[in-house]
Amino acid sequence: MYSNRSFYNKQGYKMISKELFKSDVKYEVEDGKYIFKKLETSDIEDSLDKFKNMLKKYDKFYYWLIKVISPVFVDRSQEKFIESYVSKDKVCINIGSGNSKVSDNVCNVDIFTYDNVDVVCDIENLPFKDNSIDVILNIAVLEHVPNPQKVIDEIHRVLKPDGVVYTAFPFMQGFHASPYDFTRVTEEGIKILHKDFEIMEVKPFGGPTSGMLWVLQEWIAILLSFGSKRLHTIIYILVMCLTFPIKFLDYFLIKHPMAKNIASGFIFIGIKR
Ligand SMILES: C[S@@+](CC[C@H](N)C(=O)[O-])C[C@H]1O[C@@H](n2cnc3c(N)ncnc32)[C@H](O)[C@@H]1O
Repeated sequence: MYSNRSFYNKQGYKMISKELFKSDVKYEVEDGKYIFKKLETSDIEDSLDKFKNMLKKYDKFYYWLIKVISPVFVDRSQEKFIESYVSKDKVCINIGSGNSKVSDNVCNVDIFTYDNVDVVCDIENLPFKDNSIDVILNIAVLEHVPNPQKVIDEIHRVLKPDGVVYTAFPFMQGFHASPYDFTRVTEEGIKILHKDFEIMEVKPFGGPTSGMLWVLQEWIAILLSFGSKRLHTIIYILVMCLTFPIKFLDYFLIKHPMAKNIASGFIFIGIKR
C-alpha cells in the first residue's frame, strides 16, 4: 500500500518510501533496506565494543541491559516524547538508531546494516528531500560524527516546517566508540548547535550521579589494571555490575538546578520554523 510519503508493511508498521529520497542520490536495496553508504567494521574500538556488538543482535535484551547496568540513569523523557509526537500519520525517523526499535512508527537510519535498520547512510548526508520528514530523533549519536553541526543542519533541511527534533547529546561520559567518538556538549553547546530551531525544551539527561559514575568506574578500572588492557575490560565490567544501582540517585538529583554542571548529557527538543 503506497502513498506519496510512506507505506505500511505486512505487519501494518510504517516503513520508508523511496518517494522521500532526493532525485540525485543512488542506492541499492538489500534485504528490504535502502543502502546509500554502509560500514562493515570500524578500526577504532573501545574496550567493550566487541562485546556490545555481539549483544546488539539480541536487540530487546541488549537495550534492556543497557538501561539497567549502564552508568546512565534513564527516565521517561524519550517515551513521553514518542507518545506526544510520533504517530502513524507522520513520517518519523530515528537517525543513528543502532538496532533499537523505539516505536513501530519510527523508521531507523544508521551507517551499519543492523536488522532493525531501514535506511543505511551517513547521517552527515541524509538522502531525504528538503521539507519531507515530520519528526527526527537522534539519541546518543552526535558524539560519534566528526561534524555534529552538519548533521543538525541536515535535520533542519529535511524536516518540514513545524517538524520536531529530539536530540540527546552526552556531556559527562567516558570514551565510547560507535564506531568513533569525537565530542561532548554543555547545555549552552546544545543550544548553539540548534540555533535555527525554536526551543521547546532543553534539560539534562542521566543526571549528576550518572556523570560521576561513568568516570569513577573508568578510573577504578584504570587504577586496578596495572597497565593491562584486558584486565581493564574485566575490572570495568565487574565494577559496572557492582556499582550501577548508585545511578538511581539521579531520580532525585536530576531535579537539582545545578544538575547540569556534571549531567551525563542534554536533551534538546525544538521545532523548525
Ligand atoms: C551509541 S549508538 C546509539 C544507538 C541508539 N540511538 C540508542 O539510543 O541506543 C550510536 C549509533 O550511531 C551510529 N552512527 C555513528 N556514526 C554514524 C554516521 N556517520 N551515520 C549514521 N549512523 C552513525 C552507530 O552505528 C550507532 O548505531
